[in-house]
Parts: sequence; structure tokens; C-alpha cells
Amino acid sequence: MEGLCVNQAAQPRRLYVHTFGCQMNTYDSLRVQRLLAQDGYALTTNAADADVIFVNTCSVREKAEQKVFSLLGRLRRLKWRKPSLIIGVGGCVAQQLGSSLLERFPFVDIVVGTRALGSLPNIVRSVRSGAPRVAHLPDQDEEGWRELFGQTEAWVTDVVAPVTVMQGCDNFCTYCIVPYVRGRERSRPSREILQEVQLLVEKGAREVLLLGQNVNSYGKGLQEKTRFSDLLRLLAQETDVVRLRFTTSHPKDLTEDLIQCFVDLPQLCPHIHLPFQAGSDRILQKMHRGYSAEEYIRKVELLRGACPEISLSADVMVGFPGETREDFQKTLDLMRCVEFDALFSFRYSDRPYTAARLFPDKVSEQEKASRLTELQALQAAITLKKNLSEVGRTREVLVESTSKAGRGQMSGRTPQNRIVNLEGSQALKGRLIPVTITEAYAHSLKGRPVLPLRTSSGIGA
Ligand code: SAH
Ligand code: SF4
Ligand code: F3S
Repeated sequence: MEGLCVNQAAQPRRLYVHTFGCQMNTYDSLRVQRLLAQDGYALTTNAADADVIFVNTCSVREKAEQKVFSLLGRLRRLKWRKPSLIIGVGGCVAQQLGSSLLERFPFVDIVVGTRALGSLPNIVRSVRSGAPRVAHLPDQDEEGWRELFGQTEAWVTDVVAPVTVMQGCDNFCTYCIVPYVRGRERSRPSREILQEVQLLVEKGAREVLLLGQNVNSYGKGLQEKTRFSDLLRLLAQETDVVRLRFTTSHPKDLTEDLIQCFVDLPQLCPHIHLPFQAGSDRILQKMHRGYSAEEYIRKVELLRGACPEISLSADVMVGFPGETREDFQKTLDLMRCVEFDALFSFRYSDRPYTAARLFPDKVSEQEKASRLTELQALQAAITLKKNLSEVGRTREVLVESTSKAGRGQMSGRTPQNRIVNLEGSQALKGRLIPVTITEAYAHSLKGRPVLPLRTSSGIGA
């Protein structure tokens, strides 16, 4: 075994990570990457090269789960070709299905629950040395991130870095599996978050995206008395982060102290993701959301009153059990009234454990599809109108990466979270530059930097 390790130390082991689902999964995948980096694993973007493949899964909708199964099916071939390959599955499907995943996919070696990432390096080590395949789903968090603070070389980051500030959810919306697979709400101590954010900034992050299923209730259960707004103020004052964003906010918990942060903190970008889910009070009640359409609209008015520049995005679903055409019209009414800058829309699907799976009056798939098409057409017109109104304005863009729009272009975001493509090279990455918006499309903008850009550092940053 010793000899084997020496041989392999000469050739770095390769880790391939595939992430499904929300940004909290993206963060967890980064943690896996950082944890395994300590054991000499370097990231590869080619699954066929990998010594370890980690699939981080999502089970929020039926379709998300199906995508996981179809990827796992495709990985079978890689294991045939390379029997030493270790395949691990984590995330919410792993938590939901546990050891039954090992039965269904005999080529999967490791299943780890959503609280088990801290022990992943040990499990990988033992499976490598011949231990049997394992499903590990502890009741308690095995975070394994504190010890990483000393290992700064493991902290590679993009320009935008996600940081999870709280895990789990206590809201139990009747359609949602998250509380069952992620457990009860728990917050990380503010000092630990502060330390992580500063470390990421030192490693090159300019923007930090704070994550939680319901960040507004950050602090619940902590000994310290820190609300989410206090955490934002701390980060703005005590770290060198250039931009802060957060997601997701629950409308029922959106308080005035948090709204005030948009006024007071220059680092906090004027954008909020505030899922509304439905426009009919009857349906909102059945969903157990804790607000009415009118109360939602009132919160939007408060936000816009405090910060007129703020942009708004949201999640909505169609075809919740018992949703009539009339209820659906109320969803469209709310959209027309608020005019979201961006909207993520889903067809309701039954999920295990949830209350709504047992509700009567299920809406047919055909009807859901037709409602979704109608809703998306309405939103497409609103988004385009909003994007067109950006043309001619100058916005500060944080350049993040090369653009998908074509060669020689870079891509970044405005404070309002709109994607902007602009001509430029890699040298612009990480810079905050004023950009005049020249064109608007359905999902992005095109812009031209206001100042002639030099490629040396310091200009526009
Ligand atoms: N914590 C966030 C959302 C997490 S899940 C919040 O409270 O808003 C992301 C989105 O998936 C939800 O906002 C919802 O629109 C959608 N979703 C959750 N469960 C679903 C289900 N069973 N069917 C369809 N969409 C669902
Ligand atoms: Fe799911 Fe509701 Fe919790 Fe969001 S707030 S994660 S939708 S239960
Ligand atoms: Fe999916 Fe789990 Fe996130 S179900 S949305 S990956 S918390």
C-alpha cells in the first residue's frame, strides 16, 4: 500500500465532479474539491481521466432526480473500462435513497448523505484500500471545513465565490423535499463565515454569494445574537469583499433591517431573489408559504421604495394540486403587477415525504405544460422589455469569465445581476469596469467599456 502511494504521488490523482441542483450543491462540490485536494487530487474536466468521480445530486423535482439516474447510467461504462475508478454519489438524492442507490447502481462505490462530506476523504481512502462499498448517512453534520482554513493552498476560487451561511430548512412548504433531505435549519457562526470570506478574497474572489435555503432566518439557534442583516454589515465592514449577494430570501421573513442593508451597504448588490411560488392566496395557503399575494407585493414596494435600482427575480410553479385556471390567472396577475427582472418557473411534481403528494385534484401534465408555456411567454416579454430599458445606460460590470457568446468576448454581471458580454481578453477577469450597454437580448446584454482598457492591473479595478 505504501509503495502504491509513492507511485501515485508522482502522478496526481484526478477528481471529476458533476454537480446538479442549487448553488448550495455548487458550494458543497467546492468543499469536496478542497477536501480531496489535501489528499493530492487535482480536478479534471474529463470524466474518462478520473480516479474518483463525485456526483452531487438534487431531488427537488422529479426531473432533477431523473437527470441524476441517467448520468449514473452513463458512468457504468467508465467503470468497466477502469475498474480502479471510484464513483461516489452525494447530495439530496443520496440522502433520500441511501443504500438503495448501491443496489440500483452496482458500480457506485460510495453514497454519502448531505451531512457527511467531512468524512468523504476518509471513506475514499478506505475504499481505495479495498474496504467494501459504503452508504454513510450520519444524523449529525460532519462538516470538515474548519480544518481546511489552515490549508490555504486548497482554496482555489473563481471571481464569484459561493459561501453557505446556513443549512437545512424549517419551513416545510407542502411541495418541498428540502427539509427532509437537508434537515433542520442550522447557521454557521459569523466569525467562521467572516474568516472564510476574507480567505476567498485573498485568493482572488471579488464577489461573494451568501447561500441558504432561507437566509433571512440566519442566526436561529446560534449562541451569538446575529441576524442576517448583522452578518451582512459585519462582512461589509470587516472584509475586503467588493460585492456581496445572497440567496434565497423567504418573503415572510424579509424584514426592514435587511431591506435597510440595500440602502446602507455599498458592497451589497441591488438584486434580490424572492420566490413567490403562486399568485392565488388559496394556493399559497395550501403551500404553507405564510404570506398572501398582497403581502408579497407590499414587500416588493418596500424594497423598491428603499432601493429604486433594485432588480427582482423569483421562483414560481404551475400546477400545484388543486390549482384552477382562475388561480393560475392570479399568478399571471402578480407577474404583471411586479414585473420581475428574471423568473425561474417550474411544473409542480410530487416529491416523496411531502404533504402535497397526498393532496387531491392533481393537475394533468398536459395542463401544467400549457400553463408553463403561457407563463414563460409573458415573462419573456417582460424580461426583454426590462433588458431593452438598459440600452444606453452605464453599469458597473464585474468581469467573471470568458463568454459563451463567442471568441474574444468576456462575460460579467451588472449589480442588478444581468449578464453582460463585452469584447475583451482574460486580462479583464476580476475587474470592475463601467460599461455602456449597447444591445439587449432575451437573456443577456451586450456592452462596451466606457474607458479604453489597459491590460495592466489597477485600471478600473
Ligand atoms: N428555499 C428556496 C427554494 C428551494 S427549491 C425557497 O424557499 O424559495 C427551488 C425552487 O424549486 C422552489 O422555489 C420551487 O419553485 C421549486 N420547487 C420546489 N419543490 C418543487 C416541486 N415539488 N415541484 C416543482 N417545483 C418545486
Ligand atoms: Fe423548500 Fe420552502 Fe424551505 Fe424553500 S422555504 S427550501 S421551498 S421548504
Ligand atoms: Fe436540490 Fe437539494 Fe438544493 S434538493 S435544490 S440540491 S438543497
